[in-house]
Amino acid sequence: NDDGTQRMLEAHQWLSKLYHHLLVNTAEGKEALHYLTERGFTREAIDTFQLGYAPDRPGVVATFLEKKGYHPQEMVKAGLLSSTENGEYLDRFRGRIIFPLRNHLGKTVAFAGRSLGDGQPKYLNSPETSVFHKGKLLYNFDLARGYIRKQNTIVLLEGYADVISAYEGGIKGSIATMGTSVTPAQAQLMNRYAEKVIICYDGDEPGIEASVKTAKELQKAGIQVYIARVPNRQDPDEFIKAEGGDRFKKEVLDTSEPFVGYLMRYYRSRYNLQSEGDRFDYIETVIREVAKLDRAVEREYYLQEIANEFSLSLETLKEEMAKWRPKQKDLGDNQSQQRYTKRSESQTS
Ligand code: UTP
Ligand code: MN
Ligand code: MN
Ligand code: MN
Ligand code: MN
Repeated sequence: NDDGTQRMLEAHQWLSKLYHHLLVNTAEGKEALHYLTERGFTREAIDTFQLGYAPDRPGVVATFLEKKGYHPQEMVKAGLLSSTENGEYLDRFRGRIIFPLRNHLGKTVAFAGRSLGDGQPKYLNSPETSVFHKGKLLYNFDLARGYIRKQNTIVLLEGYADVISAYEGGIKGSIATMGTSVTPAQAQLMNRYAEKVIICYDGDEPGIEASVKTAKELQKAGIQVYIARVPNRQDPDEFIKAEGGDRFKKEVLDTSEPFVGYLMRYYRSRYNLQSEGDRFDYIETVIREVAKLDRAVEREYYLQEIANEFSLSLETLKEEMAKWRPKQKDLGDNQSQQRYTKRSESQTS
């Protein structure tokens, strides 16, 4: 019910204040604060993102929230406590750096806790609750939203630390999901706010693999997808800490390429274009990808590229592509219509 939801949000707000206080003002939080400072997080970033520390001692959450009038059962329901078999309650987050997860309205609805060292899991998230749906939330969307609308572009990163570093480096329109997978609901949400998404996942193997999967999901929602690559297997956080936000923007984001171009190179490395059979497979694979593009200009551009490279006529390629074009009603046009309506509405209100 509504009352329960409100109380759950307030509990998160209280607790996020406590965790933040423990991090920045107390001896208990010293090691964690040192860890963050060593990693290059400024005090301003720590405050803006309300980073905190959950100490490794029993009863932190229960003692604090009980004083605020909460029943332990409510804290369990909110995912802040877990109950053991012998009826005891345990704090979910112990000895971890706390990243509050805010919804699009800026309300903290969950936490992610990072271990200080090599403890597993590296990040522990709140469980699903009535206010936290992992597959719907976009990290930092509340702060990024205004920039996203203005730039008509979303920068999608992999992790919380990446988003915070980007923010510090002057890239304010960046968000992340809770891990590397993007749900259809998240893709649709992104499509309502911007036409273009630049995926900039970690430069390691898993990041590269996940980029392709995410790109396909975003494309299905009618989004223009670009891929940016961080060099030397770094992630955006590491790159920005080492080279600065300006270089990240110029060398990584501004050199992002449309997904289809990226895929063409990706497939190229997997097919042997010297062999005739492979060459046809390659062409067909690329045509199927081109067929999914929203904009006719873009489709023609890539078809022309294939036509030139393999000495084929544009007409033949167009004919082939027609077989793969999604039905008109499945295209993203309706969605973009909605997006424009939404945008002009919000400008006048
Ligand atoms: P990464 O392993 O790339 O972590 O996972 P990171 O963001 O670079 O974190 P730092 O820099 O080591 O602190 C990317 C994202 O995947 C999710 C988190 O959302 C993380 O930010 N993840 C990762 C988890 O939920 N649990 C994990 O154990 C690891
Ligand atoms: Mn990663
Ligand atoms: Mn579109
Ligand atoms: Mn990473
Ligand atoms: Mn990292």
